[in-house]
Amino acid sequence: MSSYERLKERYLAANQSHVFTYWDRLNEKERDELLHNLNKIDIERANRIFAKSTHPTSESGNGQPSIEPFPDDSFDTTIGEESVANVESWRKIGLDAIGAGKVGALLMAGGQGTRLGNSDPKGCYDIGLPSHKPLFQIQAERILRLQTLAERELGKPVGSVIVPWYVMTSRPTRPATVAFFEKHQYFGLSRSNVIFFEQGTLPCFSPDGKVIMASPTEIATAPDGNGGYYAGLRAPLSPSDPDHTGLSDLKSRGVEYLHAYAVDNCLVRVADPVFVGYNIWKHADCAAKVIPKATPDEGLGVIALKGGVFTVVEYTEITREQAERKDPNHPDRLAFRAGSIANFFYTRTFLEEVESFESQLAFHIAQKKVPYCPVDNPTGETIKPSKPNGIKLELFAFDAFSFAKRVFVLEVDRKEEFSPFKNPPGTGYEDPDTSRTAILAQQKRFLQRAGASVADGVVIEISPLVSYAGEGLEAAKGKTYVRSGFVESVEELDGLA
Ligand code: UTP
Repeated sequence: MSSYERLKERYLAANQSHVFTYWDRLNEKERDELLHNLNKIDIERANRIFAKSTHPTSESGNGQPSIEPFPDDSFDTTIGEESVANVESWRKIGLDAIGAGKVGALLMAGGQGTRLGNSDPKGCYDIGLPSHKPLFQIQAERILRLQTLAERELGKPVGSVIVPWYVMTSRPTRPATVAFFEKHQYFGLSRSNVIFFEQGTLPCFSPDGKVIMASPTEIATAPDGNGGYYAGLRAPLSPSDPDHTGLSDLKSRGVEYLHAYAVDNCLVRVADPVFVGYNIWKHADCAAKVIPKATPDEGLGVIALKGGVFTVVEYTEITREQAERKDPNHPDRLAFRAGSIANFFYTRTFLEEVESFESQLAFHIAQKKVPYCPVDNPTGETIKPSKPNGIKLELFAFDAFSFAKRVFVLEVDRKEEFSPFKNPPGTGYEDPDTSRTAILAQQKRFLQRAGASVADGVVIEISPLVSYAGEGLEAAKGKTYVRSGFVESVEELDGLA
């Protein structure tokens, strides 16, 4: 049987034979291209995922599962004076683990950033800081600083502490991401400690379950969601060495704890020792960092128990009464307040276990604009729709939490740790301007907390190489800064006083 016949039979059985609509009009090369592309796709799995996502079975068996706040003993906060001693002790535990080489960082950078609509990956974006550092550089420098902090505070030799950085890309973001790191010499990190791995892609479907053709020779595909790292970490890092995977790399380096975070949060504390230490202390399998939801109306998914298991509940899934309900033990707080910010902790052991239950996870459906080639279009041209026409299937990282035994939630201060970048300049909301403002305002607070004054209108950018979370600025005490600028060392601050 020829490869054409075999694939035709398979796609026919999968009820997707329209992928051959253009066959008679394709030349030899295009036919090879189509067969090659069809062969790469596990169409039966894609159909199964579509069916499970669009027709979920009732989890409780008797209507909708109940949604409740998670128990108090799964939760802690870093906010408020009373948490200062805890934070210090968690930080110490975390820094010890970092010093022992047991901590890695995982960057979710496979998203297509459709709201931003930029052609480059989001991490390459210059949010307009005085230094013009792109997001990837800011994060790399936070890792460099953290390594230095661990070396200094634990009395270790310079260069001995390594926090490996696992960078998840997807087919659309991979080439430009790797090229950007190469061009910038890995922002000062050692190339061998930056590990790129790729998440999977899935076909995009029309609402009636047919895969969408992007062109006469190609099915439209999209990255399989930020939870793509569970499978992505099991895939070979390069075709020439099938046994070397993200998971095997973590193991061979002795990394036991991983901090996973989204590329577009400019305030992210990469491999945060406080978060890592908290979870080591709790013996967590996995955990989420959250921010308090600002108002009952804020459209932020919250972490809660649904049918008794940890999940992220979207704002639209809870009633008005639930959104406004107060925590009976803390009447100043909302009961459903733990806003999810795609910031997670895992043990390596838990990540290794995910494969055993992964097939039970239901993907989410996202209605998106998917460029398509209509089957009845004789020209075979791709059309860019103006409104959502298709379904992308996404696994969310949090979905795996429902299978963990020990899940914890740590609340942090939004203004110190979360400012996402989703939209193009000028939007006024989660855009480059709000990101830049958030960083610069934080750095002003760092200086003020160190005992300095900053004159009105003065804007100072402090390199992450100088301070990871406000530490290292003792020399600023008693100074008044009257000039704007950015500094790469604490000595340079003097020039702005
Ligand atoms: P978002 O869900 O905000 O998606 O991703 P996005 O691609 O950045 O933007 P939109 O929704 O298309 O406008 C949150 C984080 O998850 C990563 C993103 O790169 C971002 O860090 N992500 C998302 C992945 O790594 N892979 C995916 O398939 C989706």
